[in-house]
Amino acid sequence: MAKPTRTRVIAFSNDAIAEAARLVLAGEPVAVPTETVYGLAADATNPEAVARIYEAKGRPSFNPLIVHVPDVAAAEQLGDFNEAARALAKAYWPGPLTLVVPLKREAQIASLVTAGLPTIALRVPAHPAMQALLKAVGKPLAAPSANASGRISPTKAEHVLASLDSRIPLIIDGGSAERGIESTIVAATGGPLRLLRRGPVQINAPEASGAIEAPGMMASHYAPSKPLRLDATSGEAGEFLIGFGQVAGDATLSASSSLVEAAARLFDLLHQADAASQPRIAVAPIPGDGLAAAIRDRLKRAAAPRS
Ligand code: TXA
Ligand code: MG
Repeated sequence: MAKPTRTRVIAFSNDAIAEAARLVLAGEPVAVPTETVYGLAADATNPEAVARIYEAKGRPSFNPLIVHVPDVAAAEQLGDFNEAARALAKAYWPGPLTLVVPLKREAQIASLVTAGLPTIALRVPAHPAMQALLKAVGKPLAAPSANASGRISPTKAEHVLASLDSRIPLIIDGGSAERGIESTIVAATGGPLRLLRRGPVQINAPEASGAIEAPGMMASHYAPSKPLRLDATSGEAGEFLIGFGQVAGDATLSASSSLVEAAARLFDLLHQADAASQPRIAVAPIPGDGLAAAIRDRLKRAAAPRS
């Protein structure tokens, strides 16, 4: 559980943005209006800052997050745009459209943001507050909707406060979010464009059918290729052991049992274990709720048998 913080609500102004930028650069998530819904924004290059988004939301699972950038040029530093993606970016950015494209190898994006995937969801928001924050921070910002898990998406600062009071340090109040629903998401990852989420922008592309695939294998879920054993207190022959706390392992999620650190390192260590010489992976127990439950959810999906 996040330690309680006093949540300040400050009207959008240059001073408010300067304070928000200071907090974001210190690794804290802050709520900021966009033209769709209020977002809970953190430095997408800082894994622990991204883990704090999940901690604040109390979300029981890790989904890949949308990364916000100030313009097309910044987006192209992080993702590979084909012609179709470029045309959509030109037509709708800044605005309520998110494009999922291949992640550039050299992009310094925390693996928790993309949930270990080789793709990235990018959006250039139109709202002046989010634009100002992006410029003041000078880094890409991961931002899901600024609501606690299971609550509806916030379109006013009051909604954010009602759901995240004492869990985040700052809400920038920019009045009502104009659109009120989350951005349209389109995947441009090779082959024809696919509509991943309907939203304010109407795109003529076939809707992706993701739900029918096996657990852990959905397009939006990374899982290692090797068998994975849960709740291992020691490693067996042929296993790469991912440790936590007292269980040291071949590498550890967090020697100090920090859940923020463990969440921040989860996907990097799964990739490392997958690339190791051992044919199997084992993971130490991760007890607790909140972030621990989200970590266990992802590990269970990774451990689920698939054919
Ligand atoms: O309007 C919006 O888009 C709001 C505001 C704050 O900008 N943001 C938002 O972000 O809704 P978020 O992080 O909650 O949206 C995440 C969704 C995931 O659930 C998934 O559907 C999709 O974006 N997504 C993100 N990265 C993806 C990827 N690499 N591949 C497939 N889908 C991805
Ligand atoms: Mg949401």
